[in-house]
Amino acid sequence: MNDPLLRARAGESTAHPPGGAGDIVWHPTALGKSARAQQKRQKASVLWFTGLSGAGKSTIADLVEQRLHWRGCHSFLLDGDNVRHGLNKDLGFSDQDRVENVRRVGEVAKLMVDAGLIVLVAFISPFRAERRAARALLEEDEFFEVYVDTPLVVAEERDPKGLYRKARRGELKHFTGIDSPYEPPERPDIRIDTTALTAREAADLVVRHLAQAGRI
Ligand SMILES: Nc1ncnc2c1ncn2[C@@H]1O[C@H](COP(=O)(O)OP(=O)(O)OP(=O)(O)O)[C@@H](O)[C@H]1O
Ligand SMILES: [Mg+2]
Repeated sequence: MNDPLLRARAGESTAHPPGGAGDIVWHPTALGKSARAQQKRQKASVLWFTGLSGAGKSTIADLVEQRLHWRGCHSFLLDGDNVRHGLNKDLGFSDQDRVENVRRVGEVAKLMVDAGLIVLVAFISPFRAERRAARALLEEDEFFEVYVDTPLVVAEERDPKGLYRKARRGELKHFTGIDSPYEPPERPDIRIDTTALTAREAADLVVRHLAQAGRI
């Protein structure tokens, strides 16, 4: 069995692990992300929205993207539910799958930053370590953690998809805030108190922050 992939699958050690650096050599490209972003008259960035289910991530991110569009910015919104319909449809809600869910989205966001875009990520992304890992994929000034801060009682009261009701009835397992933990950001770049700001006011705040940081 000479094929290293087959040997690795059979549990044998290989000189170059499949998927590792080994024989896979990065091919440098002449055009970089700054050239791609410059053409779009913006600095590529990630707005990473985190918060409980029903906190308002999708609602606010959607309004932010519309505002960016009106200003002539080039953006893309990666929404948790939508990505789970395609790229991540093989993943469930165990801790392990949640980690993989966020890891893949971090990598996709990085590709989109390389394309010069303003990327909006709206995922519960409950664990600090995974959000830190997503930030570590990018330059320090490219990543903005946006904490959509909504108390559990308020999110549960809103329950826009009826998920809390199902989780309380025991029909949904591993539901964040009920029987799966949420680790709030300690030092978010932007914090939105959705009990004090409307979704529109929150979207204006995020766009203002991006402009003040010189990204758009
Ligand atoms: N100030 C506010 N900001 C954002 N959403 C609000 C606010 N006040 C009320 N809402 C309502 O709260 C709900 C938030 O739902 P949304 O789908 O945006 O949450 P989410 O954080 O994306 O949840 P999930 O993780 O389940 O996708 C919407 O129905 C929205 O209209
Ligand atoms: Mg959502």
